[in-house]
Amino acid sequence: MPLTGKTIAVLGGTGAEGSGLAFRWAHAGIPVLIGSRDAAKAAAAADELNALLAGRTGVTGLDNAAAAALADIVVLAVPYTAQQATALDVKSALAGKILVDVTVPLMPPKVDRVQLPGGRSAVEQLAEKLGPDTQVVAAFQNVGAHHLKDLAHRIDCDVLVCADSKAARETAIALAAAAGMVGIHAGALANAAAVEAMTSVLIAINKAYKVKASGVRITGLPDASARSGN
Ligand SMILES: NC(=O)c1ccc[n+]([C@@H]2O[C@H](COP(=O)([O-])OP(=O)(O)OC[C@H]3O[C@@H](n4cnc5c(N)ncnc54)[C@H](OP(=O)(O)O)[C@@H]3O)[C@@H](O)[C@H]2O)c1
Repeated sequence: MPLTGKTIAVLGGTGAEGSGLAFRWAHAGIPVLIGSRDAAKAAAAADELNALLAGRTGVTGLDNAAAAALADIVVLAVPYTAQQATALDVKSALAGKILVDVTVPLMPPKVDRVQLPGGRSAVEQLAEKLGPDTQVVAAFQNVGAHHLKDLAHRIDCDVLVCADSKAARETAIALAAAAGMVGIHAGALANAAAVEAMTSVLIAINKAYKVKASGVRITGLPDASARSGN
């Protein structure tokens, strides 16, 4: 799905990860709706992003339900404990749309240990609850929030994209490109178990090397020039 003319809603877009991605997409000229449980909080977050965008104002704050209803593509960026409830609350608004889930099933306090719920990817379990009307994609789970609002900072990682539909993966790959990253087809939604697990590995690496946002890169691909715009 080309992104031209599309509006993106980011549910939980008041948080570190969602607001960072929202900022990058708005900077690329895509209209973005910040979703929150509290419309006033969303409006304040949108004001902050519009101030950072210096004239390219393209961010609006709404409650999660209104944001999901008005968007063409919905991104979910909430803590794991809120993942299913937040998405299921807006289930009817997600029908016929792509839901890009950024959620990672971290289990505090041991967030640097892999603890997948039931040994499966959280996003696959969410997709089962949403049913076939929504195409669910997993992406951006390995992208640390830390540098997303710093445009001078090259986001030094690839975006592994998992979904059962190739077209849905391509939408998330276009979103990655709009945010200045390279998205990689990483197979079926079930493969998101490895991607969700990788986030705990990266958190452990961040701790060991005292860095804020380690990331993954895929090597050996035929089109190395895909990275030239990065
Ligand atoms: N931070 C990172 O570097 C990073 C990197 C990769 C992936 N992720 C994943 O992305 C997701 C969001 O991360 P984050 O750091 O942005 O999280 P966060 O700041 O803790 O939460 C994001 C937003 O979720 C909403 N939220 C919080 N608790 C909720 C609840 N109980 N019910 C409903 N909504 C709730 C809040 O929005 P409102 O109060 O406005 O509703 C909050 O601003 C997580 O699953 C995380 O694992 C994060």
